[in-house]
Amino acid sequence: MRGLKDKVVIITGAASGIGKATALRFAEEGAHIVVADFADGTAVVDQVMEKGVQALYVSVNVTDPDSVATMVAKTIEVFGRVDILINNAGITKDAMMKKMTKEAWDAVINVNLTGVFNCTSAILPHMLEKKEGVVLTTSSVVGIYGNLGQTNYAAAKWGVIGMTKSWAKEMAKNGLRFNCVAPGFIATEMVKKIPDQVLNERILVKVPAGRLGEPEEIAAAFAFLASDDAKFINGTVLSVDGACTL
Ligand code: NAI
Repeated sequence: MRGLKDKVVIITGAASGIGKATALRFAEEGAHIVVADFADGTAVVDQVMEKGVQALYVSVNVTDPDSVATMVAKTIEVFGRVDILINNAGITKDAMMKKMTKEAWDAVINVNLTGVFNCTSAILPHMLEKKEGVVLTTSSVVGIYGNLGQTNYAAAKWGVIGMTKSWAKEMAKNGLRFNCVAPGFIATEMVKKIPDQVLNERILVKVPAGRLGEPEEIAAAFAFLASDDAKFINGTVLSVDGACTL
């Protein structure tokens, strides 16, 4: 990909799954990586540095604006700037609507929607001053099409698409780009929580590709959207889903 070498990238939720794969892919492209997660990301930092770039682990809770402000401040202290933010931290707390608690609603909205607001708000003054920057967010096909048992998750994942489009309309003129990737069902810890029977009989039968996606396939989409090859792509959602939404 063009233009990723020596860029500084913050990736939230980078201690595992899609975020970890994205950290490794951006490192292969020559970018320097901030592994931002409330889980320990030091092992990912070690793997990233083996690729010959710099990396930093920052412990962050994306629901807490003070913690997020510290994440941005530490990044700027160490690297001097931030070029790309990937809002990827996310959780699920599934239940059918008639059983969904307010606690489950709040937890998922706080991480998956408000967390994206918090991180993007914190980075914007810096990017606006530089008159360049890319903010990418992990949405989900569930946000576009809905899903049984995921009222909270679908609301958050649809919400980040609305935020992304609004930001593109507001700030494309300032040299900033905002896009989402909407993964289908990807082989990570999150999907391992789905019972085998549900996965095989309800989910995989609806995926024309006949398999789960790999985290590296989402990382590749992020790398493209962050690169100079995507300079005129702003406010869009790229589904990476093995055709499961057709
Ligand atoms: P994962 O569970 O492997 O990774 C999520 C990471 O987010 C974890 O490392 C976790 O510690 C971190 N995290 C959670 N809450 C946090 C908080 N408050 N502050 C900081 N870090 C926090 O899951 P996966 O699958 O890699 O998910 C990554 C993103 O992709 C999520 O936004 C998820 O909703 C989204 N996604 C995943 C799909 C899948 O099939 N696995 C499909 C569509 C979207």
